[in-house]
Amino acid sequence: MWMLFKAFFCVVLTFLNIFTWPVFGFYAGENNYEAKNDEEILLNFAAISDIHMTDEWARMQVLQCGLWDMEHAQDKLDALVLAGDLTDGGQVHEYEKLRESFSPYTPAGEIIMAVGNHDTWTDEDDEYGPAKENFLKYTEEISGRVLENAYYATEVNGYPFIVLASEDTHTSAFISEEQLKWLRAEMDKAAEKELPIFVISHWPIAESHGLPETWGDDEPELLDGSFGDQNYEVEAILKDYENVFLISGHLHNGFVNESQKDVFGYASVESDGSFHSINLPSFMYVNFRGRLGNGCGYSIEVYEDEVLIRARSFTAGVWYTDYDVTIPVK
Ligand SMILES: [Fe+2]
Repeated sequence: MWMLFKAFFCVVLTFLNIFTWPVFGFYAGENNYEAKNDEEILLNFAAISDIHMTDEWARMQVLQCGLWDMEHAQDKLDALVLAGDLTDGGQVHEYEKLRESFSPYTPAGEIIMAVGNHDTWTDEDDEYGPAKENFLKYTEEISGRVLENAYYATEVNGYPFIVLASEDTHTSAFISEEQLKWLRAEMDKAAEKELPIFVISHWPIAESHGLPETWGDDEPELLDGSFGDQNYEVEAILKDYENVFLISGHLHNGFVNESQKDVFGYASVESDGSFHSINLPSFMYVNFRGRLGNGCGYSIEVYEDEVLIRARSFTAGVWYTDYDVTIPVK
C-alpha cells in the first residue's frame, strides 16, 4: 500500500514539474553545471533523447528550460547530442517548433541530431522520402550541418561521432547494406585515432537495457525495441573496436544504476568488454520505469584515461550523482 502511495505521489510530482515550473520556477541549480576537472577535460558534451516536439506550448518550455541550463554551463559544452524522436510525428510544424525552441539559445558548440522512429512517420503514409527531407532540412536549420544522408560522421575536438539512421518508417530501424558498409568504413577510420568513439543511434542493441521486456509489449519478441532485422550486423561491427560508446534512446526508461538492476532488469549504462551502451531517458515524457521524472539526460566528460557519464536533470538544474558511471579508457 505504501509503495502504491509513493508511486502515486511520484507521478503527481512529475506532472507538477512538467506543467508548473514556468510559473513557480522549479529550477534549482544555478551555477552548478561545471565539469569535474575543468583543467584536464578534453571533451564535454550533453546527450538527451526523445524530445517528441509537437505544437504544445509546454513541450517548448520543457526543452527551452534544458537548453537554458546547457547554455549556462560554466565549462562550455562542446556538443549537444539529440538521440532521435526529435519530433512526435516527423512533421514540418513540429520541426518548426523545435527550431523555434533552439533559436534563442546556444546550448553547445555543435548540435548533433539523429533521427528516431517518430521522425520517420510524417503524414505521408509509410513514405520515408518526405521524412528524410524534413530531417535534413531542419538539421541544417538547427545545427547548420548540411547532409546528404540522415546517417553521417563528424568530429568534435578530434573525437569521432558516428550517427546512424533508419532508412524506413518502421518502429525498428532499417539499416541498408550501403549504411552497414559505410559504418564499417567509418569505424575503421575512427579507430585509427585511438580515442573513444561515440556512436549515436536512436535504437539500442537487442538484449541490452532489459530488452525485449523493457520495450513494454506483453509477449515481446527478441528484437523488439532494438535495431530490428540488422541488429546483429550492427552489433558485430560496433563490438569489433575498442572504447566504443553507443548512445541511444527509444525505450523511455528512466535512470537505473547497477545496484538497482535487480529491481528493474536493466541499467542505463551497460558495458560488454570495451563496448559501452548508454541508454538515455525520454526528455519529454515521464519515463516508464527507473527514475520517473522528465527533463533528464547525461552530461559526458572525456578525459585522457576515463569517460565520466554524469546524470543530470537539465530542467531542474540538478545532478543525480547516484547514477553516475566512470568508464576507464583502454
Ligand atoms: Fe520516443
